[in-house]
Amino acid sequence: MKKNFKRTLVTTALPYANGPVHIGHLAGVYVPADIYTRYLRLKGEDVILIGGSDEHGVPITIKARNEGVTPQDIVDRYHGIIKKSFEEFGISFDIYSRTTSKIHHQTASDFFRKLYDEGKFIEKTSAQYYDEEAGQFLADRYITGTCPHCKNENAYGDQCEACGTSLNATDLINPKSTISGSVPVLKDTKHWYLPLDQHEPFLREWILEGHKEWKTNVYGQCKSWLDMGLQPRAVSRDIDWGVPVPVEGAEGKVLYVWFDAPIGYISNTKELLPDTWELYWKDKETKLVHFIGKDNIVFHCIVFPAMLKAEGSYILPENVPANEFLNLEGDKISTSRNWAVWLHEYLVDFPGKQDVLRYVLTANAPETKDNDFTWRDFQARNNNELVAILGNFINRSIVLTHKYFEGKVPVAGELTEYDNTTIAEFASVKDEIEKLLQNYRFRDALKEAMNLARIGNKYLADTEPWKLAKTDMERVATIMNVALQISANLAIAFEPFLPFSAAKLRGMLNMTECDWNRLGEMNILATGAEINAPELLFEKIEDAEIEAQIQRLQDTKVANELKNKKANPIAENIDFEDFLKLDIRVGTVLECTKVPKADKLLMFKIDDGLGGRTIVSGIAKHYAPEELVGKQVCFIANLAPRKIKGIESQGMILSAEDFDGKLVVTTTQKEVAPGSEVK
Ligand code: 2FM
Ligand code: ZN
Repeated sequence: MKKNFKRTLVTTALPYANGPVHIGHLAGVYVPADIYTRYLRLKGEDVILIGGSDEHGVPITIKARNEGVTPQDIVDRYHGIIKKSFEEFGISFDIYSRTTSKIHHQTASDFFRKLYDEGKFIEKTSAQYYDEEAGQFLADRYITGTCPHCKNENAYGDQCEACGTSLNATDLINPKSTISGSVPVLKDTKHWYLPLDQHEPFLREWILEGHKEWKTNVYGQCKSWLDMGLQPRAVSRDIDWGVPVPVEGAEGKVLYVWFDAPIGYISNTKELLPDTWELYWKDKETKLVHFIGKDNIVFHCIVFPAMLKAEGSYILPENVPANEFLNLEGDKISTSRNWAVWLHEYLVDFPGKQDVLRYVLTANAPETKDNDFTWRDFQARNNNELVAILGNFINRSIVLTHKYFEGKVPVAGELTEYDNTTIAEFASVKDEIEKLLQNYRFRDALKEAMNLARIGNKYLADTEPWKLAKTDMERVATIMNVALQISANLAIAFEPFLPFSAAKLRGMLNMTECDWNRLGEMNILATGAEINAPELLFEKIEDAEIEAQIQRLQDTKVANELKNKKANPIAENIDFEDFLKLDIRVGTVLECTKVPKADKLLMFKIDDGLGGRTIVSGIAKHYAPEELVGKQVCFIANLAPRKIKGIESQGMILSAEDFDGKLVVTTTQKEVAPGSEVK
């Protein structure tokens, strides 16, 4: 049954303020939420978009400790960076706040206290690791030890990163505190738990029966959680960073980050609308929609609704259109491996091209399955779609209007059958795009919008007004009127998706208003109205720019491999006498040439202080011959000569081999006389 709502409250997952945001965040959560909100606003509906940074949790304290700063320093830094990135990409938040705000601490604290007072939690005491030297309980991430499954010695208390198994800290063999290095002891501690098991019957009914329309990935995940059976979940932790548990005797305990973070949606709404926030959170005629990534489904579909239900006065989400993940060039995006396209860096390399990224991320959004972002696809979509279709059509329409009609919308004469067929395609466009947007199918909605530009392009290509201009200006006037009305339609249709370009287009067309309800009409621009000079909406992205991005990722990969590689074990000991047998000398390279028919070999003529010698070395893949001429190298001078490709090699040049197999020739730190001995 379709419900009628009076207003919409849109929330976006609060990103952790311990790093900047990347394309995965934008594609999965913020661009779709922004498209949805912009669309509703354009329709004149009552809607607000709520965002903010998630500033609590253990990883933030670990980062702070590693950097020798406070957690507050960390969140101040990243909250600023994240907020700026969202602004730059046109994510039209009504508020972007943070969970360290006073109002949030108060709201989360009151929320907990109400449930506590009403007996909605259960209290349990359990044994947890405690660092006696540091005098504190240890979050699982603060404990390392040997993984019981793969014997990796550096497994964390919550997960072994070598074999991927999730662990409990008590599973670790030889546990060690990362704070003091001491061996932690088990000590009893009391925590409060949300008895999810008690809420299970309600959740089953509400989701499995009441929300069959949810996306299959979301519904499916909920069903499998429910089918496994829900367990009570601890909502407090023994750390000193977060919202203090507002109960006597709970000193040193804070609310679990996943308890306070979703309450952040409420606090931020309160901060935005101190007098009317309750309308958005408590009135049954409000539609609450959470935009999140798939890793957050259980918290938004099960835990948070159970909290809201237990509190009693709040509405529950109407939909949770969670997306799957976006990969990058075939690999999972990862902050720790720096495998990401960071938004703040993108804008340095592609200034002013926010809409290009918004376009590509929407066209390729991971709506139903994980998807891949590749730079080649980014380039192709820009060049073949934004430039060649949308940009080209707009440019032609405006340039021709200036050329033939002094920049004024011409009066349309009689319409041909072909004009009418083209116009007819616009009649149903509004309904089609709306249906898709209302079902959170943003990729398909964008495709529909792009299709309008395709129709426009085809219309100009088929009618060829530039040819008719010699013979039939009346017909040209009609064609250009239609083309300009299509342009105005595009300015409306693209506003939710490409807000920067749509605004630029409206500027060119002198459109003062943008009313979604007029989408599909063919009289948006009045005849005689002035059109401004054309500006380029999109520009071609060259191969070199894309190759630079691919190279950067390649460099990241190599750097990661090097980081993970360990030096080879040291070879068996040798006697000093054996070492003395080696005669290592320094020589100056007089000539260096490629050995014919051997792509790895270079032939050196070396000044060895004793009349010179020839050495063949397998480093042609690492040096161009001319690079080494005039340089000094170290070589073994008393290695028995041997023939390599018919050349007698009289010794061996010493090179260091990097972990990635790169060879670097050894030399002395200062120039010395050729023939000097290395000891
Ligand atoms: O996964 C995350 O990045 C969490 N910080 C999302 C929190 S969403 C909400 F509950 F605040
Ligand atoms: Zn393991």
